[in-house]
Amino acid sequence: MKALILAGGAGTRLRPITYTRAKQLVPVANRPILFYGIDALVEAGITDIGVIVGDTRDEVIDALGDGSRFGCTITFIPQESPAGLAHCVLIAGAFLGDEPFVMFLGDNLLEQDLGAFVGAFDASGDGPDAKILLKQVDDPQRFGVAELDGAGHVVRLVEKPEQPPSDLALVGVYLFGPRIHEAVRSIVPSPRGELEITDAIQWLIDRGSTVTAEILQGWWIDTGKLTPLLEANRLLLDKITRRIDGSVDAASALVGNVVVEAGARIVRSRLRGPLTIGADTVVLDSFVGPHTAIGARCTVERSEIEHSVLMDGSTVRDIERLEDSLIGREAEISRSRTKPRALRLMVGDHCQIDVE
Ligand code: G1P
Repeated sequence: MKALILAGGAGTRLRPITYTRAKQLVPVANRPILFYGIDALVEAGITDIGVIVGDTRDEVIDALGDGSRFGCTITFIPQESPAGLAHCVLIAGAFLGDEPFVMFLGDNLLEQDLGAFVGAFDASGDGPDAKILLKQVDDPQRFGVAELDGAGHVVRLVEKPEQPPSDLALVGVYLFGPRIHEAVRSIVPSPRGELEITDAIQWLIDRGSTVTAEILQGWWIDTGKLTPLLEANRLLLDKITRRIDGSVDAASALVGNVVVEAGARIVRSRLRGPLTIGADTVVLDSFVGPHTAIGARCTVERSEIEHSVLMDGSTVRDIERLEDSLIGREAEISRSRTKPRALRLMVGDHCQIDVE
């Protein structure tokens, strides 16, 4: 007789794949969005992580490394073109084998931890072949939408429906047993030309599989757009605690939860948290207001910034008031001090600028 010992809870057997899409490396509260997802998976006991990479692969590989800094092992799986979420499962087949796994979309941010959701999933025997995480939304037309029966089982899934059957959107977190592999091999591309994971799950339901659902507690943000990104930045900054590792001169005042990383210098400035100032950044004669995340190696001089994200290596100089903005890496924004007072922009990646 043989014995099989599982040295961990059910969760440790699950292998996640993370689908990385544009903007997944944009920082919120000074950490790339993708890092929060990886942390959540590691905290749920999942340490063998496959990461699907596309045209931003070099940047993603550079940022994640082998995963050791997150306490996990990462296997990168290249996807030649963005052919859909079900296509990701298809090309990750060899990595996943027959183990259950969680699929997590890299540009999603969830407040809830994943431990309970992942731990309760048992795809063996009579267990469900898939479990999805849902959230009530005001605009279900923008998402995959689920219809549930009285017992909470999923009876129908539709991708971006014009007439949504409910207001329950698919959050980008899915749990699958091995039957999903047959489903992703069997479906055909949708009208938008992608192999949709929603169609693969519907394929399972149509063939008698049980698909269960859980309604997400806490906030969920799909950070692919500017406003949700600033919203995520705000929600995460609300959780920080004060830490001053950089230098603050006597002429400056810091109020509330402010993080000043090592090597940063605050000179003759007022900082009102919650906010973060990255390593080696200089803030001179300025005001930085609530819900602002300034990256590393930035310069902010004679300016006021509030409710904004400023990515690494950027400069803001002589700007009276900057609000609700996302400024990319190595960007320069300044206003000339002599007349005519033109606004000068040298903009980096991930920028959104609205000029009067
Ligand atoms: C994808 C899924 C959709 C889901 C959404 C969540 O949509 O296809 O079902 O609701 O992620 O972010 P996409 O962002 O690829 O259009």
